[in-house]
Amino acid sequence: MTRKKILVTGGAGFIGGNFVQYMVKKYPQYDIFNLDLLTYAGDLTKHKSIETKENYFFVKADIADREIITSLFKKERFDYVVHFAAESHVDRSITDPGIFVQTNVLGTQVLLDASKEVNVKKFVHVSTDEVYGELEFDPSTFFTEETPLQPNSPYSASKASSDLLVRAYNETYGLPINITRCSNNYGPYHFPEKLIPLTISRVLNEQRVPVYGDGKNIRDWLHVIDHCSAIDLVMHEGINGEVYNVGGHNERTNLEVVKTIIKELGKSEELIEFVQDRLGHDKRYAIDPTKLETLGWTPTYNFETGIAQTIQWYLDNKEWWEQIISGDYQDYFNKQYIIS
Ligand code: NAD
Ligand code: DAU
Repeated sequence: MTRKKILVTGGAGFIGGNFVQYMVKKYPQYDIFNLDLLTYAGDLTKHKSIETKENYFFVKADIADREIITSLFKKERFDYVVHFAAESHVDRSITDPGIFVQTNVLGTQVLLDASKEVNVKKFVHVSTDEVYGELEFDPSTFFTEETPLQPNSPYSASKASSDLLVRAYNETYGLPINITRCSNNYGPYHFPEKLIPLTISRVLNEQRVPVYGDGKNIRDWLHVIDHCSAIDLVMHEGINGEVYNVGGHNERTNLEVVKTIIKELGKSEELIEFVQDRLGHDKRYAIDPTKLETLGWTPTYNFETGIAQTIQWYLDNKEWWEQIISGDYQDYFNKQYIIS
């Protein structure tokens, strides 16, 4: 039997990186190709434990580079594409939207064309609940796969645009696809610009934690490994053309999340600093994952255990995040926040 070739884009980032490790270890019979441009958000040091494995390969490339992507697909003839590569941070999309259109929209289209040319068996597009816009603070309402797309930030608008292209390639050219729309992830190797790792790293350094607005906005948190198992299932079992929402019913206000971390680390809540709100800040996200559960998926982490393990991971892996926050990140942080 010939080995299956899986292309994972964005496999040097947070979720793609966890997914690459999950797949390399779980499926020795598959060849896993990690394609990544290694932007500020990507690094290969996280893959030390797999870099010598025979079923792991790395390609440095830009998904929007049509020539390179086309020739790579012609050479390798991938069976499956799992597409994570993206500009992923909402705040950066507010200050610099152009690169979000370039990577998230045009880059996705290049990958779709290349996938169509070599007849990939399935293109799994990793999207986000943010394409649905925001929910009110009514706990009985959830995003379902039928919720209309109403993206509010340049980031979510670029993701929604890519979702629509993926859908169109399925309808027009018959390219087999699935789209997953997941809620907020947390766990190992989360880049410290995002709320949870930013809070952990700053609290550990006794620095103030910026909380936007009144801190009452709600996010629905899922451990990254539960997201990986969801994508694994959708890649193998997802019905062609279908969208699957991914979430584990873990809604928390931002203030609750920050206070939980401060408490776990035994520090003072005086580290919290309320700062100017994010422009167009979505109030609440909450996922109804019934459709994916019907396919056979169940999350394994509850938030309390998951966050405690994540904090421990950041304590055990200081060298990883310290080398990030000591570089260009400082310039980003100083431009982004006015904080005492
Ligand atoms: P991330 O920012 O940590 O990683 C993105 C990766 O993509 C990086 O390794 C980066 O180098 C790479 N990349 C960026 N531009 C590229 C390009 N032009 N060509 C090739 N590689 C490029 O992102 P993440 O948080 O791991 O998110 C991964 C995907 O999951 C994204 O598509 C995001 O929209 C989606 N998603 C994220 C979350 C979340 O909570 N983080 C939730 C739902 C969906
Ligand atoms: O919902 C899925 C999305 O989750 C993904 O599609 C995005 O790629 C991912 O970045 C994430 O987006 P959010 O904007 O929800 O995540 P972020 O960690 O940036 O912010 C979480 C919440 O915390 C949000 O309400 C804004 C708030 N926040 C964030 C930062 C960085 C603060 O209050 N202070 C901060 O410093």
